[in-house]
Amino acid sequence: MSGMREGGWYPLMLSADLEPGTVAGSTVQGRDLAVWRDGEGQAHVWDDRCPHRGMRLSLGFVREGVLACLYHGWRFGADGRCVHIPAHPDLSPPGTIRAAPLRVAECHGLIWASVEEDGPLPEVDAAVWVPVRSLRIEAPWQDVARAVGIPDGHRAAVLERDVEGRVLAALLPVREGACMLHLLAAAPAGVERLHDLADWGQDVRARAEERAGRVFLAGGVA
Ligand code: FES
Repeated sequence: MSGMREGGWYPLMLSADLEPGTVAGSTVQGRDLAVWRDGEGQAHVWDDRCPHRGMRLSLGFVREGVLACLYHGWRFGADGRCVHIPAHPDLSPPGTIRAAPLRVAECHGLIWASVEEDGPLPEVDAAVWVPVRSLRIEAPWQDVARAVGIPDGHRAAVLERDVEGRVLAALLPVREGACMLHLLAAAPAGVERLHDLADWGQDVRARAEERAGRVFLAGGVA
């Protein structure tokens, strides 16, 4: 078992879960984000708020390599700058109109975003990681980290498990009392091993949520 050096980087989602030309939502510690992939395959992460009137950009769509807002169709290029306003098609939008991009890294089969400034990139591991699944768990991420075997103070680790083999477990703190657990297996990974790992993830979720429920009830009684 070894913890990864994450710096200010957070594992948002499995790379496999974001197709080119699509957009999805994510949340880090209560901060909502739009995660999208352009036609070249490059991932982008922005605050989930349109600079025009605050519509969620994660509800938008990708057209011709840029992200368009669902509400009035303003389009934003990879650097976040507005490149087109449908109501004023001849206008060249001022450079001050822009979405708020975060730093992005894609490695270990995951899309990471740097929420804090100037943290080092996540350590690169030479293994090829096969995506297993992501689970939302209604329990504090620190409790899930402990249950999974991620060392204290880390959000991700490579684990050596008897049955499932080498596993990369990465946690995203969504908000207080909720997190996402991403699981990946070191290649080569047969179907049976992937199933075992997915089952293990579900066990982790069930136990963590049961414990969180007990703690909540105990707190309520007190
Ligand atoms: S709110 Fe996004 S284009 Fe108007």
